[in-house]
Amino acid sequence: MQHLLPALLIASLLAAAHIPAASAQQVLTRDALSGADYVVGRRAFQMRCSACHTLTEGGSDLTGPNLWQVTGSKAGSRGSFKYSPAMTGSDISWSADRLDRFLADPLKDIPGTSMAIPEGVPNPDRLALISFMMLETGGADWPKPELPRVIVDPDRSKPVAERFPSFWNHMMSNTTRYRMVTAGGELVFRAYFNADGSITSDHEKIRGFWRPDDRDFFCYALYGIPAKPDQLVECFPMVAMSIPRFAEQLWESKPVEGVQLYGGILPGRP
Ligand code: HEC
Repeated sequence: MQHLLPALLIASLLAAAHIPAASAQQVLTRDALSGADYVVGRRAFQMRCSACHTLTEGGSDLTGPNLWQVTGSKAGSRGSFKYSPAMTGSDISWSADRLDRFLADPLKDIPGTSMAIPEGVPNPDRLALISFMMLETGGADWPKPELPRVIVDPDRSKPVAERFPSFWNHMMSNTTRYRMVTAGGELVFRAYFNADGSITSDHEKIRGFWRPDDRDFFCYALYGIPAKPDQLVECFPMVAMSIPRFAEQLWESKPVEGVQLYGGILPGRP
């Protein structure tokens, strides 16, 4: 059922896969924060922050301070924690935008901070992460989303359709919409992920293929795009695509310098 693609081709495509750069200074509106993906934010926190921080009221300090009600607080103000002089002397008040700047590159933002993380948090994870932190630290004025149950069968010998039924139903029956903004203008097209591993589109030239990988991401390539770049490769966790969410714009990336790509899912297919 799955396309068996030559391993080399996939390896080289994946090597070219774009990892969005951590760019700061976006403006995090309440709309953007309240609409961010809770599951993505939770995963980012668990992967990148939970080794050093707790979020709950009264949670203990670890290598880093407990972050209950961090938004609105002055940086370095938790009496229980021994901060670096750089942090206590920074005169920062933690708004969502200020957190965004810090988390994009802590050491660049506050030279001398003792928060040593291997890399800044890339977008769009950063927005989702900040939204999640605000919800979990009592700093959000919007309700916590109800989490639809994502069904995942860990048995890897089964086909994707059985292991990730909600991903499968969502991606194989709906329309993916792309908007690519380049210096030369804007290109909007719709793509259809098919059960045989192919991707078709509403544009005569744009085609592609997708496949799951051994980390339970699905990676896809699109080619024949009448713009620069004319090919794209992106990977997403299948669980992230297992919750049916519909909007013209759900994720965003920067495939090459100067080009912004917006992706979204629209219900159904023509
Ligand atoms: C290796 C441990 C470590 C990891 C991982 C880590 N932090 Fe920190 N964090 C710290 C330390 C230590 C401080 C105090 C820094 C200082 O005093 O300069 C800190 C400070 C902070 C502060 C400022 C708190 C205050 O009271 O002013 C925030 C916000 C924060 N971290 C968020 C995060 C987030 C979000 C992540 C995940 C992307 C993260 N941290 C990952 C150790 C860590």
